[in-house]
Order: sequence, then C-alpha cells, then structure tokens
Amino acid sequence: MFPFIYIVFLLSPCALALRARPCRDLPLTHSVAAAPYEVPTSASVAATPYEVPTSASVAGTPYEVPTSIPQPGTGSCAPYWLENIKHQGVASFNTDTNSTSLALGRNQTYQVFRNVKEYGAAGDGRTDDTAAIQKAISDGGRCAPGSTCQSTTKTPAVVYFPQGTYMISSSIIDYYCTQIIGNPNCLPTILAAANFSMTGGRLGLIDGSPYQNTSKTGFGPTNTFFRQIRNLIFDMTRIPANVLVPAIHWPTAQTTSLQNLVFNMSAANGTQHEGIFVEEGSGGFMADLVFHGGNNGFNVGNQQFTTRNLTFINCVTAINQLWSWGWTYKSVTIVGCQVGLNISAGGPSALKVGSITLLDSSITNTSVGILTARTSNSEPAGAGSVYLENVKLDNVEIAVAGLNGTVLPGSRDAMTIQAWADGHRYISDGPIGPVNIRGDISPTNRSATLLENPDDPYSKYLERSKPQYGDVAQDKFLSARTLGAKGDGHTDDTHALNAAILQAQRDGKILFVDAGFYLVNSTIYIPPGSKIVGEALASVILSNGSFFNDMNNPQPVVQVALGGERGSVEWSDMFVSTKGQQAGAVLIEWNLGTYEGTSGMWDVHTRIGGFAGSDLQTEQCEKTPDIVITPSNLVQKCIAAYISVHVTKWATGLYMENVWLWTADHDLDDSRNNNTQITIYAGRGLLIESLAGRMWLYGTAVEHHVKYEYQFVDTHNIFMGQIQTETAYYQPNPDATIPFPENATLSDPLFTLSNTMNGLNGTNGTRTNTAVGWGLRILRSSNITAYGVGLYSFFDNYSTNCSAVGSGASCQTRMLSIEGYANSHSINLYNLNTVGATQMVTRDGVDLASNVDNNSTFVDTINVFRI
Ligand SMILES: *[C@@H]1O[C@H](CO)[C@@H](O)[C@H](O)[C@H]1NC(C)=O
Ligand SMILES: *[C@@H]1O[C@H](CO)[C@@H](O)[C@H](O)[C@H]1NC(C)=O
Ligand SMILES: *[C@@H]1O[C@H](CO)[C@@H](O)[C@H](O)[C@H]1NC(C)=O
Ligand SMILES: *[C@@H]1O[C@H](CO)[C@@H](O)[C@H](O)[C@H]1NC(C)=O
Ligand SMILES: *[C@@H]1O[C@H](CO)[C@@H](O)[C@H](O)[C@H]1NC(C)=O
Ligand SMILES: *[C@@H]1O[C@H](CO)[C@@H](O)[C@H](O)[C@H]1NC(C)=O
Ligand SMILES: *[C@@H]1O[C@H](CO)[C@@H](O)[C@H](O)[C@H]1NC(C)=O
Ligand SMILES: *[C@@H]1O[C@H](CO)[C@@H](O)[C@H](O)[C@H]1NC(C)=O
Ligand SMILES: *[C@@H]1O[C@H](CO)[C@@H](O)[C@H](O)[C@H]1NC(C)=O
Ligand SMILES: *[C@@H]1O[C@H](CO)[C@@H](O)[C@H](O)[C@H]1NC(C)=O
Ligand SMILES: *[C@@H]1O[C@H](CO)[C@@H](O)[C@H](O)[C@H]1NC(C)=O
Repeated sequence: MFPFIYIVFLLSPCALALRARPCRDLPLTHSVAAAPYEVPTSASVAATPYEVPTSASVAGTPYEVPTSIPQPGTGSCAPYWLENIKHQGVASFNTDTNSTSLALGRNQTYQVFRNVKEYGAAGDGRTDDTAAIQKAISDGGRCAPGSTCQSTTKTPAVVYFPQGTYMISSSIIDYYCTQIIGNPNCLPTILAAANFSMTGGRLGLIDGSPYQNTSKTGFGPTNTFFRQIRNLIFDMTRIPANVLVPAIHWPTAQTTSLQNLVFNMSAANGTQHEGIFVEEGSGGFMADLVFHGGNNGFNVGNQQFTTRNLTFINCVTAINQLWSWGWTYKSVTIVGCQVGLNISAGGPSALKVGSITLLDSSITNTSVGILTARTSNSEPAGAGSVYLENVKLDNVEIAVAGLNGTVLPGSRDAMTIQAWADGHRYISDGPIGPVNIRGDISPTNRSATLLENPDDPYSKYLERSKPQYGDVAQDKFLSARTLGAKGDGHTDDTHALNAAILQAQRDGKILFVDAGFYLVNSTIYIPPGSKIVGEALASVILSNGSFFNDMNNPQPVVQVALGGERGSVEWSDMFVSTKGQQAGAVLIEWNLGTYEGTSGMWDVHTRIGGFAGSDLQTEQCEKTPDIVITPSNLVQKCIAAYISVHVTKWATGLYMENVWLWTADHDLDDSRNNNTQITIYAGRGLLIESLAGRMWLYGTAVEHHVKYEYQFVDTHNIFMGQIQTETAYYQPNPDATIPFPENATLSDPLFTLSNTMNGLNGTNGTRTNTAVGWGLRILRSSNITAYGVGLYSFFDNYSTNCSAVGSGASCQTRMLSIEGYANSHSINLYNLNTVGATQMVTRDGVDLASNVDNNSTFVDTINVFRI
C-alpha cells in the first residue's frame, strides 16, 4: 500500500544550528592492502605495461573526427554567478587570525574563494601563468602534497578560472580539498606551452598528488578525498607528440570528481599524450569528459570508479586499464580509435583487471572494441571479468579480441551487443554456479521507469549531471550568510538556515550555502522546490545537542520534505555531520516524492567524526583494539549517529551521484598528522524503504556503519552504478549488536539468529558474538540492478591479517544478504567484488557463492549474479 495521504504541516518542527567545516583524511591501511600496481617512474609509464594487439588487428586507420561533437570554449561568454557572487566562505576551524582581520570583525584571514586572475594570472594565452595559478592554490598555509600534512578540513578552497586561455610551462600541483572550477559558459583553456616540462616527480598539467622522493605520491591515494575539477579544456597540442604527458594525474579516493572537461592531445603518429592518468586509489567519479587524440584517453587503475558520458575521438587506445577491482563505464562513445578498452594488463598468467562493466555505450570506426587477456585457464580464475550491456558497434573489426585472436567478431555494419559476459556466473534458474562462461546472456529486463526514454525499451538508463546553473542569472541566487546564517561553527544557525532555505524556495531562487560550518540544534527542513548548492566541499550542516541525542527517539538533521510532500529538489556540494554524541541523529531523511522528472543529490556527503570541530577525533575516540569492548566500557561519547541517510517509504524519483556516507575510520585533522585511527559508532548507513522506488545511485559509497552499509527494504526499480562499502574496522570488537538495539520498525538485521549472522564462525576467545555489519542487505525487493558492486572487509579489530593475500578472506563470514526471497526477484548484480568475506552471497541464510571459487585480483569476483 502506498502512503498517499498528505498531512499539511505549517512550518515544520525545524530548528537548529550548523557549522561550517571542510574536509578530509583517511588511513592508509586499506590502500596498502590494495596496491597491485607498480609505482610509475616516468620511464615505466612510458613503457606501456601491456601488450599491443597484433598489427593485423590494429589496422591503424586514421579516422575522421566527427564534426557533430561540440567543442566548447569559443564565442561570447555569459558571466557565471559563482565568479561574481559575494565571496564570504570561511573555514570555521582555521586558526589563521590577525589583528587586521579581527578589526574587520572576522577571526580569520583565510580566503576560501580564489580567482586566479586576482592572483595575477593573465589568461591571455601568451603569459606564463604557472606561478600565479599555483599561488592561487597554495595561498593561506594550505595542505600541500608531500608536506607533513596528510589531510585537513581546515583549508578548503575554490580556485576559479574566468574565461581565458592560461598558458603554463610546468605542472600545477593540486592541494588538499580544492575545487578547481572554470566558467561553464565558455570553458577556460589550460594551455601547455611548447616547452612544458615535468620535473621533480610531477606528472601532468595538473598533478593531483605528485611523486615524492620516497617514490610515493604526496597524499595517500586512498585518502585523497574532497576535490573536484570542472569546466576546463586541456590543450596539449603544442607539446611534441613524442613526449609522454598526461593532462591530469589523479590518484584519488571518494568524494572526488572530474566533470565537464575537454582534452585536446596530439593525434600524430606515435603520440604519447594521455588524458587522465590514475594508478591508485579508491574512487571516485568522473563524467562529461571529451578526449581528442592522444595515445591513451584514460590510462587508469583504481579499486573502483564510476565513470559516465566519456567521449574518445581518435585516441590510439581510448581506455587503457592498468588494473581495477571494479570499474563502471556508462555512456561511453569511442570513435576512430585503434583499441577501445585494453584490459589485458598482466597477461593471462597474472591478470591485473578484476572486472569491467560497460553499458549504454558505442564504439565506432575502431579496430578492436575490447582487448582481453582472459582465457579459459587464465589466472586469477575470477579476474578479467567483463559485463557488456547495450553496446553499439559500427565498423568495428573485432568486438572482443584475445591476445591470440578474435573472441567476439565485430562487423563492418552497425550491430548491438545486447548483453555479453565473460566470467563466473551464478544464475538461479540455471546451475547455480560458478559457471565459467564467455558469451551472450539475456540483457537486464530494464524497468521502464529508470530509462531516459520510458517508451523505448532499448533506451539508456537516465543520467543527469550535477547542475552548475551556468544559465542562471546572478540575481537568482541568495547567500545563506547574507541572509543571516553565521556558519562559524559555534553559533546556532537552525533558525537562520531554515529561514534562508525557505526564503529561497518561496522566491524561486537558488540558495548558495557559503563555505562554513552551520551548527544546528534542531532539524533543517528542505521544502519541495528548493535548489541548494554549497562551496568548496566545505559547507557543512553540523548537528549539535540533546535534540539529536536520544537513541530511542531519532530525529532528522536534514529533512527533505515531509512524508507525502511532492515536487523536486536539487542539492549539491554539501556535507551533513554531527558534533559529539548524537545517538539519535538521522543525518538526512529523504521523504520527497518526485513523480515528474527527478530530484537529486550530487556530491552531498555525510561525514561522521574525524574532523576539527566534531569533538569526535583522536582525543575523544582513538581506537582501542587491545581492550575488549562491552556495553559497559564502550565510549559513549563516540556514539555519533543513528542513520546516515534514510530514504523513507514516501520517497521516489531520487537521483544520487557521487555520494559518500562516511563514518570516519581515522582523524583527518589529527594533530600528529598520522591518520590516527578512531572508533566512531554510527548505527546504519543508507536505508532505502521507498515503496514507489525509481532511484539512481551513480558512484555511491557507504562505509563503517554498525549494522549495515546499504539496506533495501520493500523497494524496487533501483539502478546502481558501482556501489562500494567497507565494514567498520573495529568490528567485531565490539560486535554489530551494540551499541544500537534492534529497531524492528527499521527492519534492522538480527544478528542473534545464526542463519543471518555474518561474523566469524564461532567464538573468538572471550568474544562469543562475532557479528559484523552487512555490506549489502536486500529484503523483499525487486528490480534491483547494480552495475558494479564492491563490498570490502579489510579488518578484524583493526588487524588486516584477515584480508591479507593468502588469509582466506576471514574478516567476516558473510557480506551480502538477500532475505524474503519469495518476494525478492529480478536482482541483478554485475561484477560483484568482495574482500575479506568467506561467503559472497547469502540468500535466506543459505550461502550461494564461496570466495574460494572466485579468486580474483585481491578481491573475489562474480561476473553475473541473478535471481
Ligand atoms: C591580516 O589579514 C588581512 C585580511 O584580513 C590581510 O590583508 C593581511 O595581510 C594579514 N596580515 C598578516 C600579517 O598576515
Ligand atoms: C572570534 O573569536 C572569539 C573568541 O574565540 C569569539 O567570541 C567570537 O565570536 C569570534 N567572532 C567571530 C566573528 O567568529
Ligand atoms: C607511424 O610510425 C611508424 C614508426 O615510426 C611507421 O612505421 C608507420 O608507417 C607510421 N604510420 C603512419 C600511418 O604514418
Ligand atoms: C555529456 O558530456 C558532454 C560534454 O561535456 C555534454 O555536452 C553533454 O551534455 C553530456 N551529456 C549528458 C547526457 O549529460
Ligand atoms: C596463444 O597461442 C600460443 C600458441 O598457440 C599459446 O602458446 C598461448 O598460450 C596462447 N595464448 C593465449 C593467451 O591464449
Ligand atoms: C520490474 O521491471 C519489469 C521490467 O521492466 C517490469 O515489468 C515490472 O513491472 C517491474 N516491477 C516492479 C515492481 O516495478
Ligand atoms: C537552539 O538554539 C536556539 C538559538 O538559535 C536557542 O534559542 C535554543 O534554546 C536552542 N535549543 C536547544 C534545544 O538547545
Ligand atoms: C525506530 O525507528 C522509527 C523510524 O525511524 C522511529 O520512529 C522510532 O522512534 C525508532 N524506535 C526506537 C525505539 O528507537
Ligand atoms: C604513526 O602511526 C604509526 C602506525 O600506526 C605508528 O607506528 C607511529 O608510532 C605513529 N606516529 C606517531 C607520531 O604517532
Ligand atoms: C560454520 O561452521 C560450522 C561448523 O564447522 C559449519 O557447519 C558451517 O557451515 C559454518 N558456517 C559458515 C557460514 O561458514
Ligand atoms: C580474535 O581475537 C583476538 C583478540 O581480540 C584478535 O587479535 C584476533 O585478530 C581475532 N580474530 C581471529 C580470527 O582470531
């Protein structure tokens, strides 16, 4: 039954306070576990670590660049609101103070917004702007790669490029927590000078984390959070074609994104240019990228990534996959390349690519679509897994090539691969598995409500990029700070922020929430019709006080609509967090029913603990693995949230993109600069109970909650493109039954029943209940389709012995539970990767897939799971 009764509330029970605070940091531990790649020296990068297909298979035809692809960056340019809006963002917990700024009534001089022209960049295409751009990034004592700073949330910045062509002669180094943004109305160009040089370990026009003389990148790749680059053209055409240079070096983790970028590279014979180079990390999201020319558009390896709307024109190889556990490619257009995706790294004896998912894509005028090294007896057995769905080919000689020849023929004419899979299948209406198969498979029975065109069964799944409001005039924006919210991390902003949100919504305007920590002591209510955008990944709503601290009476920090309200909301680039003990805080409660179009959260994250101002740092919550934790000695003040995001029965039509729900496992602002691990208790991750369903989850990740990371209950029609989880590092000390008692209303998992337990099998010393949280739990739900799933358990009570190579994946017994099977159907999981779990899928207590049967590249990989 659907709850359609609409109860009218006159301005809701919303009050509260917030705080502004920014970013980041993570412990290196899980990344260390990963790292199946060589540290590239410039020499090894140059020496392409993969086999090139035989000359026969690569005809090397020089194809025409289609003229239909628009080339941004020319013509007149409309002003962009972000450039001209009053810049009032602050870093609330930055201690940079001086008497001048105090006299101005501000406690800090730290500047969040930086326009590169105000730092002296000319943007005239002739002046060397390297130093000016670098100054705009580094000014204000920020967190530089390779310094003692591993991470901090105290120095966020927006580095803004107005219209112009900015010539650089050496690499620009990106700092921690930086949004690099160009005017979207006329993409500015970063032009590499003919004498462009990369020295001192730097790679690329923009280096996200340069190599240090330790042979490591400046920031730990799996801890490199909170950064974006948007709306730029990278012009490398003046660099000689034979010089190996990437436009962007991007070894990053969650809450990072690249959006709306164009890469112009040499297409000359022998070109060594490449677009994006990623060799490590735990990403991440990219969308709306166009590559012209070059040797590799992408030259990438990472634990997981979600990438969509990528166009590769005239590259030698569009995508060279160095390694992966899972990587999702959606809406990729490849035209005139020699190879589309090369996933043969490592060769058949040591495959490096765990899995690749490619859907809603096209490959045209290209010799080889996909080059794989997987064979019937390649190693590891589960690796090199490929899932293709709705991939159109036109004039592709070989659709899938092996190192010795054709695996799947192509065609001179147009053809569509409806679905094709190579790897280990578990299909309930066949032999359960694993069945090692390469070949066609019936495509997903796509739910029409999830498609771009619901009337066309062959339509792509809908996708919708983060709105940047380039076409919206300045006077259509309101500022939360101008409207009276302090965002200083200590004033209660509940009333001011609620009033600002309401005013913007009533006036049909967009609310800009200037960088800062907005402390709130009661609920912030976002009504239908709201459009809200934050700044610098440093606009943080911070819950505080007793209202959110009753475990028996949970309360939303941010409530998007009341149950029964309809309409749409757009919300981007913000964080919701808690301050100190908040045992009843539901960080985001999404009730909104969007029946026309979609509502969205883009780069809206929850971050629980581990940052300055949270009172949930090393000092309060440092890990204690040597103490047996019981209900009586558990550190109560580190109980920090009840649920991260609750999508309720009322909600429908929600689109989420690049959303990370993170309970901190380490302190981002640790005074020791040592990524100190902390134990924070947050009850539940992402709970979706929507009765009407219709949700898109592109590039979402949920980590370190007590009972589960993702839980779906009585819902349906959910699209997921690479989801990722990590079990809490401290579990099972304590186990998942404490400190939050079961709430049956929320369909909490019952860890006391042996058939749904997922701890170690049996007792461990004095620990009798070894239950740990689920990565993914699906109850009575249908049409749940995930294109890429990574469920990881690296730790047992902070020890990684249980996930180390050869450990037998003993961090937890089970990881993924499907319950109420009689009412669960059409569940499709493509390229399911687990770490540290003995059983990969459990259905009503019956284990269906053992990790030992699916050994892959550090992870265990199932290519297709369907029931
Ligand atoms: C103090 O802050 C002001 C701006 O608020 C800045 O212009 C000035 O350079 C700062 N002075 C010092 C000594 O840092
Ligand atoms: C500046 O700091 C003082 C002392 O910490 C505090 O009382 C005051 O409210 C702060 N002012 C602003 C504008 O943040
Ligand atoms: C590209 O260069 C290689 C080696 O320099 C040469 O053998 C080949 O003929 C060239 N191809 C074209 C299309 O010019
Ligand atoms: C894909 O990216 C291109 C280039 O950024 C952009 O013009 C286009 O609108 C994007 N398509 C979608 C569906 O977002
Ligand atoms: C390719 O063929 C050669 C010769 O038949 C054989 O030794 C080799 O194992 C094959 N390699 C692959 C990846 O199939
Ligand atoms: C599941 O998807 C199929 C295929 O589009 C559709 O026929 C069916 O109605 C969907 N089920 C629900 C519960 O929406
Ligand atoms: C919340 O803050 C407001 C000030 O905005 C204050 O008047 C109120 O008493 C506070 N409420 C609680 C429960 O702390
Ligand atoms: C259980 O969750 C529901 C739904 O959020 C809530 O209304 C109720 O107060 C919770 N019960 C307890 C005992 O915490
Ligand atoms: C930093 O962390 C490492 C690993 O946990 C530890 O061995 C070392 O003692 C720590 N250093 C400091 C200064 O705390
Ligand atoms: C746990 O151990 C028992 C006894 O050794 C065994 O029968 C059972 O299958 C194990 N359960 C799991 C989930 O591994
Ligand atoms: C068992 O408990 C001990 C002590 O808490 C811990 O060191 C160990 O990692 C646990 N796990 C296993 C599998 O023994």
